[in-house]
Amino acid sequence: MTLGKPIYHFTPPANWMNDPNGLVYHEGQYHLFYQYNPHGDQWGTIHWGHAVSTDLVHWQPLPVALAPSTELGEVHCYSGCAVIDDQGVPTLFYTSVGEGERNAETGAEQWMATSPDGLLTWVKFEANPVLTSDIHGKDLTVRDWRDPYVWKEGDCWLMVLGGSVEGKGCALLYESANLQEWTFLHLLHTGEENLWECPNAFRLQDKMVLIYSPSDKVKYLVGSMGDDLRFMKEQEGFVDHGGWEGYYAPQSMLAPDGRRILWGWLPDNARGEMTEIQGWSGVQSIPRTVELRPDTNTLRFQPVAELQGLRENPYELPKTVWTQGHHKLETKGKAVEIIAEFELAGSEASFGFEVFRSPEGEEQTTLKFDVAGGRIVLDRSRSSQAAGVHAWELTALYDMQQHKQLRVHLFIDHSIVEVFVNEELCLTGRVYPLREDSEGIRLFVQGPSVAMSSLSAWNLRGI
Ligand code: FRU
Repeated sequence: MTLGKPIYHFTPPANWMNDPNGLVYHEGQYHLFYQYNPHGDQWGTIHWGHAVSTDLVHWQPLPVALAPSTELGEVHCYSGCAVIDDQGVPTLFYTSVGEGERNAETGAEQWMATSPDGLLTWVKFEANPVLTSDIHGKDLTVRDWRDPYVWKEGDCWLMVLGGSVEGKGCALLYESANLQEWTFLHLLHTGEENLWECPNAFRLQDKMVLIYSPSDKVKYLVGSMGDDLRFMKEQEGFVDHGGWEGYYAPQSMLAPDGRRILWGWLPDNARGEMTEIQGWSGVQSIPRTVELRPDTNTLRFQPVAELQGLRENPYELPKTVWTQGHHKLETKGKAVEIIAEFELAGSEASFGFEVFRSPEGEEQTTLKFDVAGGRIVLDRSRSSQAAGVHAWELTALYDMQQHKQLRVHLFIDHSIVEVFVNEELCLTGRVYPLREDSEGIRLFVQGPSVAMSSLSAWNLRGI
């Protein structure tokens, strides 16, 4: 096994991968495309890789779906989406980037391709590009214009694209009756960040959700969008606190049972000069369902239930009051799931988990819940050897004293810590334990005791 390579998260057999693309369910299969460099483990010559699954857990790699048409000046096939058109034809939209005038900042175009054989091979539309930046007219200049995401409302196809206008990141909205001819409608929303990448828009109940990647923690907005197709923000939050080195560029899809499912790219950018890890880069997150909490209009994130099929070696602890110190769990390994519930009423506790822990503790990663400080911290300073390359601590601010309970749903997978807290806060970080025996898991408490109502843990099988 390759050191650090996850066993139950999706990775391609080799080489570089970034954003999930073209997520679509068609005739019994979930399709996952992704930004892919077939020529090595660094970003470059971006193609679309492809894999399929019938259960959202096990993936079968398929041949590369899209390659740059160098004869047409195309150098990269940037991110995009897939839809099934009104005649049932699978159709991709993506951002086509070249060199010189066709550079990503000022010369990107939006291209289309269709599949004659159920999404295996793709034929680029002869009249590409389907959208050029001329569509905005003379008065609006959009830079870094990319990452089309298309969906249908009534008789009308809508497309959202990311970019920046006057130095501010934004999402722009377009409309089409036939997927080939498009008109620009308006700026859907603008932020304070320099650039918005990979915007994703979808309806959840009577609300509109807009997710975007601003070269920092991925954010979401919840609002309303009526007949005028103007978006009115009502609520906002983070999709994940991992930031651009932990969880980035997510894309969602609709499952046939109506679930909205989200995948994100877990980059390996920060592993630096670790020569032990070579030949691959980039992982897809576990698929998460996204729901609207009607009481707060915030989003609820949960791992898809299908992942439970990977569980083995169940381990349970009854209600326990943990006192100050370190408490070894019987569960160990580098591919583990833990669900633990803590009682927070009146608590000032500081506690958490040590994972990827070597027998003597020289190597370990800690996930700490600092209730009084209102912070959740993933501390990798005693684990990763990618010295100086990335921030040792990933922090999420979270007012735990507002909550009676804290439900921690933790996944670890060789170089990944992915945690769901109270189904509303996600924190994902990469970490690179180098020792084979960094498999221990302990629970720790600093200061006042903490009451845990239950804990369940499992080892997870590889896919
Ligand atoms: C996000 C991103 C996208 C772009 C792609 C290129 O990670 O920068 O905006 O389409 O990656 O690989």
